[in-house]
Amino acid sequence: MIQISTPLLGAEEKEAVLAVLDSGQLAQGPRVEAFEQAFAACCGVKYAVATSSGTTALQVAVLAHGIGPGDEVVTTPFTFIASANAMIFAGAKPVFVDVDERSYNMDPRLIEGAITPRTKAILPVHIFGNPCQMDLIMEIAARHGLAVIEDACQAHGASVHAKKVGSFGTGCFSFYPTKNITTAEGGIITTDDDELADRARLLRSHGQRQRYYHESIGYNFRMTEMQAAIGLVQLGKLERFVEARRANAAYLSSGLRGVVTPVEAPGHRHAYHQYTVRVTKGRDLLAQHLRAQGISTGIYYPLPVHKQVAYQKLGYTDCLPVAEKACEQVLSLPVHPGLSQADLDQIIEAVNARWS
Ligand SMILES: Cc1ncc(COP(=O)(O)O)c(C=O)c1O
Repeated sequence: MIQISTPLLGAEEKEAVLAVLDSGQLAQGPRVEAFEQAFAACCGVKYAVATSSGTTALQVAVLAHGIGPGDEVVTTPFTFIASANAMIFAGAKPVFVDVDERSYNMDPRLIEGAITPRTKAILPVHIFGNPCQMDLIMEIAARHGLAVIEDACQAHGASVHAKKVGSFGTGCFSFYPTKNITTAEGGIITTDDDELADRARLLRSHGQRQRYYHESIGYNFRMTEMQAAIGLVQLGKLERFVEARRANAAYLSSGLRGVVTPVEAPGHRHAYHQYTVRVTKGRDLLAQHLRAQGISTGIYYPLPVHKQVAYQKLGYTDCLPVAEKACEQVLSLPVHPGLSQADLDQIIEAVNARWS
């Protein structure tokens, strides 16, 4: 079976984990700090604060921006639910705007119409690793005095005019095993803001600067030394992985017929966490056909966030037709760096055979 994703871990990651086990220091320590410094440098920011997951990175980022009850954050419904839940955890309200039909990212033209006196931030999601229109989003945020929290959980290595995602606003990344690089579970917040980094560190670890002296209420959202050790090795492979994903994506796009292939805006570097095509008719039958040919696919996402039962229970009744239609038509094909030339050819042949 050609898998939709697979973590690529080698002997170096194994050795790094064993060295941690031998060291006796398992909880957050020097390797986490080293990983934070390396990730901040890779992203082109001053600080990175490692967390237990992408979800907790988003939660901490929202709280560190002082967003709370009564506040609103403008975001996208076409994402994994954790992007919006970050606001719910804080007692704030995610306000959804529809997405662009081609990139599946939030449509910047709709943001201003969703801003109210209660709006505190914009939370764009670089979906599938394709960067949002950050120039426009940053300009709107500046005009309205809003914070920007980037959900870059799928976008390690993506950039806009050579500026890395996660360096425009406050960045949040995930290292879940399917991501472009992994630490098993894990996340990280990126920022240039001294005070925000400080608040994030306190929120991550029980509000303590010094052990057993708690100056604010916080959580245990720490990353372990094992995770950081894996992350340090994986980070060294990120560029290679992203280049391999991009080459695979280009090859797929040049060979596939009968589906709408992904777009990359001029100056944007898509990191191809997912290679997602639009199938205007018979998406589920194509997925079944591919499965029968030994190719696994993914539907990200079958339902937009505002249509999830959890959000219906919260009273969301939005109608966001572009996102809703996308959920019926998108199909992600394997694009990861573990694919061989034969795998790529098999995927192209299997998709194209469906229409002949
Ligand atoms: C867009 C997006 N946001 C947030 C998350 C949450 O990350 P994690 O699974 O590490 O908590 C994910 C990961 O699945 C994601 O894809």
